[in-house]
Amino acid sequence: MHKIISVLVALHVSIFASYISVCQNCHGKGFEKRALGRSRIVKNLKKEEIKQRLNYFKTSSSIMKSYASSLSEKQIGQIAEIFGR
Ligand code: HEC
Repeated sequence: MHKIISVLVALHVSIFASYISVCQNCHGKGFEKRALGRSRIVKNLKKEEIKQRLNYFKTSSSIMKSYASSLSEKQIGQIAEIFGR
C-alpha cells in the first residue's frame, strides 16, 4: 500500500513539480546518480537525512545552496518522502 501511494505521489510530482526537474539534471531522474560526480546517491539516503541535508544547504556555501534555498518546507518533505528510503 505504501508503495502504491509513493508511486502515485511520484507521478503527481513528475507532472506538476518543475522544481524537481531542475534537480534531476544533476541527480538523475530517480536521484540515482552522483551529482557532478561528487554527491552521495540521494536515493540511498534515509528520508530524515535528505531533509536535514536540504535544510543545511540553505545556509551553506555548497553548490546546493541556491537549489535548497528555493525549496519550501513542504517541497523538502515531498522530495524526502518520494526519493528517500
Ligand atoms: C548543478 C547540479 C545540482 C543540482 C541542479 C542539484 N544538486 Fe543536489 N547536489 C549537487 C552536489 C554537487 C551535491 C554535493 C554537494 C556538497 O556536498 O556540498 C549535492 C547534494 C545533494 C544532497 C545531499 C547528498 C549528499 O551528498 O549528502 C541532496 C539531498 C540533494 N543534493 C538534493 C537536491 C535537490 C532536491 C535538488 C533540486 C532542488 C538538487 N539537489 C539540485 C548537485 C546538484
